[in-house]
Amino acid sequence: MSVKQGKDKKDPGSKTLSRKELSKRRFLTAATAAVGTAGIGVIAVPFIRTLEPDAASAADSVITVDISGIPPGGHITTSWQQKPLIIVRRTPEMLATLSQVTSQLKDPDNKVPQQPPYAQNIYRSREPEWLVMMQVCTHLCCSPAYEPEKGSVSPTWLGGFFCACHGSSYDFSGRVMFGSPAPANMVVPDYTFIDGGKSVQITGLEKESKLC
Ligand code: FES
Repeated sequence: MSVKQGKDKKDPGSKTLSRKELSKRRFLTAATAAVGTAGIGVIAVPFIRTLEPDAASAADSVITVDISGIPPGGHITTSWQQKPLIIVRRTPEMLATLSQVTSQLKDPDNKVPQQPPYAQNIYRSREPEWLVMMQVCTHLCCSPAYEPEKGSVSPTWLGGFFCACHGSSYDFSGRVMFGSPAPANMVVPDYTFIDGGKSVQITGLEKESKLC
């Protein structure tokens, strides 16, 4: 299930690539993986179709993700219903940035139902430390890169997610920033903690949430 864990490691080859090229490469890698899973020779359009909201089938799918090995500041990426999903264990420093970017956000109070009611808060989660989120840009379904390092996207960047497909920025809670073509915050699925908090169970999508 898990395909990646811990902090992003620098790819030596990425030093020669521009951010746009790097994002494109990541997207194509994801697309290739999706096609490989399906076992058929199709490309971008069918892949994007798999990212369309499908609350009915989502309700039938439950997965459990072990989070016991994620250190503070670390994350794990996996997939749910063939869509990228990320779980981040945020540090107090990361959480502190959430109140610093409020004026830059399109929907700081999460009024658009892109999350379950219990996640309609600044953390967009059940527990501030944990972000459980579909890593799908609400513009045209690319998977934004997780960019936790300050200054990594722009000189004033405090950390979050950046979708270089068309330049959408999100904070550490997946809330979209002004200047982004993406219209809404990224989707938080329905989930619960189990095994005394050692695992997260993804149980579905809110009926009104829209992946992209
Ligand atoms: S798909 Fe993310 S900015 Fe367009």
